[in-house]
Amino acid sequence: MEKINAVITGIGGYVPDYVLTNDEISKMVDTNDEWIMTRIGVKERRILNEEGLGTSYLARKAAKQLMQKTGVNPDEIDVVLVATSTGDYHFPSTASILCDKLGLKNAFAFDLQAACCGFLYALEVAASLIVSGRHKKVILVGADKMSSMVNYQDRATCPIFGDGAAAVLLEGTTEEIGVVDSMLYTDGKGLPFLHMKAGGSVCPPSYFTIDNKMHYLYQEGRTVFKYAVSSMSDVTAKIAERNNLTKDNIDWVIPHQANLRIIDAVASRLEVPMDKVMINIQNYGNTSAATLPLCLWDYEKKLKKGDNIIFTAFGAGFTYGALYMKWGYDGAKR
Ligand code: UT7
Repeated sequence: MEKINAVITGIGGYVPDYVLTNDEISKMVDTNDEWIMTRIGVKERRILNEEGLGTSYLARKAAKQLMQKTGVNPDEIDVVLVATSTGDYHFPSTASILCDKLGLKNAFAFDLQAACCGFLYALEVAASLIVSGRHKKVILVGADKMSSMVNYQDRATCPIFGDGAAAVLLEGTTEEIGVVDSMLYTDGKGLPFLHMKAGGSVCPPSYFTIDNKMHYLYQEGRTVFKYAVSSMSDVTAKIAERNNLTKDNIDWVIPHQANLRIIDAVASRLEVPMDKVMINIQNYGNTSAATLPLCLWDYEKKLKKGDNIIFTAFGAGFTYGALYMKWGYDGAKR
């Protein structure tokens, strides 16, 4: 039997209309555009501010665009996988809500939580499902409504994050394209530096947790920054070496969009020029599990079949890793 590879065959994306600018943030907390641009690299971010809408709304918009662009038959979707840390509810899964909204009748659906590394981990899982030969078409969504857990009185975190979603379709192929290799890791020692203190089973919601602002994202930025630079740089260098990839044959690097200085560090370690690095942090900020597919969404028209792409991400946990893929098609699908 011929070997099956898992390849991305289409992309859809969605960011909310509301643009939260640095000027507006500067009215909420003691900060300014110059600090945010030089220390983080975010100019503006999109916020889902309509009441009653959660992450499944972002995911649904992205998945609908994906289905329209690829023309995939909804009855042929086997699996829906949503990478998110900001699901609509603790349960049921956001993926199950998405199944209903998309009218999918033949799929099983689940969420995967690996913080900002969610899409990368989910891509590995989705690719394995395809390579097994048991599943033919997987919709994989990276979606996060980060505004639902950001404290807009905390200047150390509120300029960083935004809301968004992007979805890809994964299918099998016998061509030499698609996911080639991955190196994924989890170092649970990251817990103290990046987490939400309450709302989970250790510390369920109470008046105390609300009064003490324990339902917001908590980050020790400097420590997370150091881990992110070294982990992402090391793992991308390792996966490049293992696959004989150098600055000359890497076509694109797609790094998690958490901080432009982290992205610069990863690119310089690989000696890859910045025009081969996908960057959209200035427009959307850190959308957590959505950053990698939103890069694909923005750069789709520039991609060519066979392009060598390295994805890399880092997130709470700590979770981190890199994945090497050969791209599957030329230009943008409409
Ligand atoms: O996606 C998951 C992974 N997350 C990340 O990868 C994020 C990693 N961390 C970072 O990107 C950076 O650490 C931050 C952007 C969060 C912070 O940048 P930094 O250069 O590490 O700043 P810092 O926390 O060391 O703070 C430097 C100074 C402090 O003042 P003092 O103590 O030196 O007087 C802060 O109080 O900057 C101050 N500061 C600000 N000043 C103006 C912190 N936030 C702001 C702000 N505006 N918004």
